[in-house]
Amino acid sequence: MSKFLSSRFADLKAYTPGEQPQNMQYVKLNTNESPFPPPPQVLAAVSEAEVSKLNLYPDPDCRELRGKIADLYGVKTENVFLSNGSDDILNFFFMAFCDENRPVVFPDITYGFYQVYADLYRLPRTVIPLREDFALNYRDYCGIGANVVIANPNATTGISIPVSQIEEILQSNPDHAVLVDEAYVDFGGESCCRLIDRYDNLVVCRTFSKSWSMAGARLGYAIGSAGLIEDLNKIKFSTNPYSINRLTLAAGSAAVDTYDYFRQNCSVIAENRTFTVAELEKLGFETLPSSANFILTRHPGRDGRDLYEGLKSRGVLVRRWDQARIKDHLRVTIGSRAQMEAFLAALNDILKGE
Ligand SMILES: Cc1ncc(COP(=O)(O)O)c(C=O)c1O
Repeated sequence: MSKFLSSRFADLKAYTPGEQPQNMQYVKLNTNESPFPPPPQVLAAVSEAEVSKLNLYPDPDCRELRGKIADLYGVKTENVFLSNGSDDILNFFFMAFCDENRPVVFPDITYGFYQVYADLYRLPRTVIPLREDFALNYRDYCGIGANVVIANPNATTGISIPVSQIEEILQSNPDHAVLVDEAYVDFGGESCCRLIDRYDNLVVCRTFSKSWSMAGARLGYAIGSAGLIEDLNKIKFSTNPYSINRLTLAAGSAAVDTYDYFRQNCSVIAENRTFTVAELEKLGFETLPSSANFILTRHPGRDGRDLYEGLKSRGVLVRRWDQARIKDHLRVTIGSRAQMEAFLAALNDILKGE
């Protein structure tokens, strides 16, 4: 830390992203990326012609892509907001809607960035423990009188709740903003996008990083009432109006045009998830019920760190945390069938002591 850093940030603990090894080949199951590359149409969109326009700024309003996303979800362009990955949108949500008089609540086990943003903006917050079985009890959030941030399916656990429960949270907190982070919804959850017409306090946050195979492009989108989207735009245009570059806009637009390709990939991931969970059970693992492209699993007789290290030394990268409730769990991205077989074979070796 230099002597120049504002004292406001002296104690800030930055988010630690999952490892992104640049020069070693791992079976990479640690950051919930898609194993499938984007389709040729996306490649073609990021063409020489588009690259040759890099001397010009991109459209700060992202009109074309917002329009296409609006059509996809049956909403209006004014209900769609785009920015540089959904992390950027989460940041704007915390910046725009939370302050010392508008606290925020989120679960104890969830996407780690919520805590970081709450720290960054020095927000009063309530961290609500998930139930013993890691399910989120929606009643804990009803009428809570604070802004609510939940991931559905929940990050880390993969467990989802029905839209009817989200609706109760929205209904009972009419004067507070509710962010539902649907980063993983395409793998088996139920989206609450259709509620935006009825609840002006709802922001649904989504990403091109997972089901859309474009984590490297950095593209996220939010769907919400026109008023909330206008507020998010106010913050975006007060920080970095060109937060999405020209190539990413073109790639996103081509991706939406090839929607069926991504839907098909999501079905393959769901099949691979079923396969992996069944195989893990045979090895004695206990896995939480996941609607996402990852699972949270543990072996009752094994230390989580040992398993993590054992997998890594065999070329398989997964994710784990020191947080007490999940320290013996591994979070494993569901990849291709070949990747999952390599993961299971490595686990088998570890359990046999080879
Ligand atoms: C629940 C959740 N939300 C948001 C993100 C951020 O995604 P991105 O910034 O790549 O859109 C992630 C990434 O892992 C996540 O797990």
